[in-house]
Amino acid sequence: MSRRLDVPERILLGPGPSNVDPRVLKAMSTPLVGHLDPKFLEIMDETMELLRFVFQTKNRLTIPISGTGSAGMETCLVNLIEPGDEVAVCVNGLFGERMADMASRCGGIVRRVEAEWGRIIEPRQVEEVLQSASPKLVAIVHAETSTGVLQPLKEISKLVHDSGALFLVDAVTSLGGCEVKVDELKIDACYSATQKCLSCPPGLSPVTVSEKAMDAIRGRKSKVRSWYLDLSLIEKYWSKDRVYHHTAPISMVYALHESLRIIAEEGLKKRFERHESNAEFLAESMASLGIKFWAQEGYRAPMINAVSIPEGIEDTRVRRLLLSEHNIEIGGGLGELAGKIWRIGLMGYSSQRKNVVLLSRALKEILRRAK
Ligand SMILES: Cc1ncc(COP(=O)(O)O)c(C=O)c1O
Repeated sequence: MSRRLDVPERILLGPGPSNVDPRVLKAMSTPLVGHLDPKFLEIMDETMELLRFVFQTKNRLTIPISGTGSAGMETCLVNLIEPGDEVAVCVNGLFGERMADMASRCGGIVRRVEAEWGRIIEPRQVEEVLQSASPKLVAIVHAETSTGVLQPLKEISKLVHDSGALFLVDAVTSLGGCEVKVDELKIDACYSATQKCLSCPPGLSPVTVSEKAMDAIRGRKSKVRSWYLDLSLIEKYWSKDRVYHHTAPISMVYALHESLRIIAEEGLKKRFERHESNAEFLAESMASLGIKFWAQEGYRAPMINAVSIPEGIEDTRVRRLLLSEHNIEIGGGLGELAGKIWRIGLMGYSSQRKNVVLLSRALKEILRRAK
């Protein structure tokens, strides 16, 4: 006989998932209805409306894709790229790298726009690629979770827009933690994930697509190479037609609906200020421990804080002790940054002053012992 689930309550201060508001967990235990039940259709409509509010868009097609953030990434790329299309992908971290990989798997001819990990992509780099190639699409990550960099979008969006290309933004980590103004920035396609600043379990990937991008999809010469992620098919389920495509993950939609209601109750402005002020408090607390921030100054994402591991300190030992003795999870570095940085997430429900205090105290005590 296997044992009942026995899982400790962690303080999740890593790169995601973040802690989930108890209201969201409660919503997930709401009884199931069918995926075409009139009550569920109402909940779908409300969820789309709430997503439009968080994405700050009027885009009709604003829906949660079934799957994690990578499913949203793949949805946007596989629908917008046809084999042979030129695509410019900005790569300054692991997730830009993932986009470039996916874009080439879609048959795109990928033009990489690169910056060192930890630095932003400069607008003039995008300008250069727009002059030397004619990409159909320019893709960029807003908050690069692997480096803690928050990429400014305004200037780049204007360049892309003026060239006539489509602008795709990864807002997996940023949505719900800082401004993602889809309409104002003329973003044509944007995707996120439920487990970061939306503070839901992982499992859905909110996506919003402009009419211009939908026209590009409708005007494709070839079929979208993924049946499951074909937006023209999925759209028919989320629009008035209500045509069955796949069985919606009902309980996850309940969860997202509740987490978006919580965001609406808090208000976007207050929520973004909370993320800012807790990140500032973290910066002060880390400075008092002699721990330095790692990402480019002036471009640090408040919800994912990359700090340098102090000289002579063993990365995995510290993280193991944080978890086993203090129930706190933080993230290590990915790829070339493994062993060099810690990534401290202050996302959604996890972005609380008391969590910063608990982490700082715990780190202080562990670092003292490690010396
Ligand atoms: C910026 C960014 N993009 C994409 C992803 C992929 O999301 P998922 O792991 O939910 O598939 C992540 C995950 O951490 C991410 O941080």
